[in-house]
Amino acid sequence: MKMIALFNNKGGVGKTTSVINLAYSMAKLGEVLVIDCDGQGNSSRFFADDQPKNTIVNALTVAPVSVTSAVSHTRYDKIDIVVSDHRMNDAVSKFEQLPLNTQIGNCEKLRKEWYYSWYAGKKYDYILVDLPPALNSITKTILSVCDVVFVPIELSAFAIQGVPNVTSVISECGCRFGGCFASKFDRECPADFEMLEMIRKQLGGKMLQTVIPQSRVIKNSLSYRLTAKEYMEWTAAAECYDQLADEIARICGEFTDLERKQA
Ligand SMILES: Nc1ncnc2c1ncn2[C@@H]1O[C@H](COP(=O)(O)OP(=O)(O)OP(=O)(O)O)[C@@H](O)[C@H]1O
Ligand SMILES: [Mg+2]
Repeated sequence: MKMIALFNNKGGVGKTTSVINLAYSMAKLGEVLVIDCDGQGNSSRFFADDQPKNTIVNALTVAPVSVTSAVSHTRYDKIDIVVSDHRMNDAVSKFEQLPLNTQIGNCEKLRKEWYYSWYAGKKYDYILVDLPPALNSITKTILSVCDVVFVPIELSAFAIQGVPNVTSVISECGCRFGGCFASKFDRECPADFEMLEMIRKQLGGKMLQTVIPQSRVIKNSLSYRLTAKEYMEWTAAAECYDQLADEIARICGEFTDLERKQA
């Protein structure tokens, strides 16, 4: 099992859109659990059909609450979700009042394989974490328990200037940086091509090959509560998330191989 976070403290770069479409593509590779950690609850609204007894807020701030009581099934066979809601916005102060080991323990619970097998009867191959655009103590502690973090970026000067800051936060949290990917590439815009080349030079192998285009198919599909693939499967925009899922799965596999060699 791999716990993968999509994080960028810049807002609106496509974290949630990527989590939703990636979950759909990764479900072809295995069982997927989405954990929504954002008080905006966008991925929760997309996936969850009912309001479960518990949410991520309780799982993180109330010590005895099991994460699995917060797992909801979705309309997709191979995708489950731990939902979030607006209370997550006020959860940080409650979380910070907990002893440090409880804070870490509550976040570590989110990634305990046996936990899900024991209570939910499921083994997840991939856990995808949708994080808020905020660098608070919850975000940092969750990052610290993830296996790898990928950073969606827009190809604007400001967004690119922020990349070194994001990658240093990831390494300060002790998490592996899987790489950045362009999440809204505008093929009509020459500056985007230049920016892509520049960031590839800057990041080398840490810039993913997959490029997600800025696309009306991707944007509109969400209004119908569909993934891009469900909405218009034949389009290149829909196809690119399969490519992203394969690339992310391959990078996660390489980390696993490296760990085995080091063990
Ligand atoms: N590839 C794309 N093409 C067109 N529109 C996109 C694309 N990706 C995301 N969007 C749109 O951009 C907006 C922001 O996307 P999204 O909510 O996924 O970003 P986010 O990083 O999760 O935001 P936040 O930081 O607020 O959580 C949404 O309106 C979404 O529909
Ligand atoms: Mg989001």
